[in-house]
Amino acid sequence: MPSRSLPTRYTAVAQAFHWIIAALVVTQFVLAYLEHDLPIGAHKLALLARHKSFGMTVLMLAILRLVWRLKNPPPALPPGMTPLERNLARATHFAFYALLFAMPITGWMMSSAKNYSVSWFGLFTWPDLIGKNEAAFDLLHSTHEILSDVLFAVAILHIVAALKHHFWNKDDVLLRMLPLVRLNKAKSERRT
Ligand code: HEM
Ligand code: HEM
Repeated sequence: MPSRSLPTRYTAVAQAFHWIIAALVVTQFVLAYLEHDLPIGAHKLALLARHKSFGMTVLMLAILRLVWRLKNPPPALPPGMTPLERNLARATHFAFYALLFAMPITGWMMSSAKNYSVSWFGLFTWPDLIGKNEAAFDLLHSTHEILSDVLFAVAILHIVAALKHHFWNKDDVLLRMLPLVRLNKAKSERRT
């Protein structure tokens, strides 16, 4: 019997949030990697400015996504998953949501602590979150760095899990997050 309350796939809005934020997160790592070893100069500052603008975009989208998610429950997990796998999936998604807030906020606070203003693509400037403080800057810099390693590890786990569902379990967990893919309805309904 299909569930009345839970959908069998992610909606177009959920998919759009997922893939736009995922692309922005990858862009953030690429920009950070490109600017990291550059000497201080115009090129480094331009890459950092872009990193900050895209990062603040992630924060805005994460707020919208969370509000939307609280009003629109996701599809149920397939019944074949063990309790450990279910808990791991929930923990991974929870960790992602937490990191999508923590990464931009620590970055924003870090810039404030150094007295560097955070602009959004040159269109406007975000207010400083804290005053100039070198000790806070060092702490926030290390926190941002450590959290980026955690985010990287969670993303690898998440991607491996999505591929395992698709190629090993042969269920439609990956397909239901992909746009323009038709699911086998009978198969999806059996799962709910
Ligand atoms: C989802 C959002 C974000 C992600 C995934 C992200 C990721 C990263 C990564 C991977 C690094 C390099 C860490 C390392 O040195 O190993 C970094 C550095 C940095 N990020 Fe972010 N970041 C995000 C948002 C932000 C925001 C919103 C700001 C500021 C408003 C910011 C400011 C910085 C700064 C100033 C650095 C240090 C650059 C340096 O020391 O060379 N980040 N970030
Ligand atoms: C770093 C980039 C990514 C982030 C931040 C991210 C984040 C998330 C989050 C937060 C969810 C939970 C959605 C919800 O229920 O509200 C989710 C679900 C999902 N993601 Fe990602 N994701 C990323 C990359 C990917 C990639 C590359 C794939 C494919 C290989 C993927 C496949 C999936 C699938 C299949 C689901 C649905 C899982 C389910 O039905 O329970 N994600 N992702």
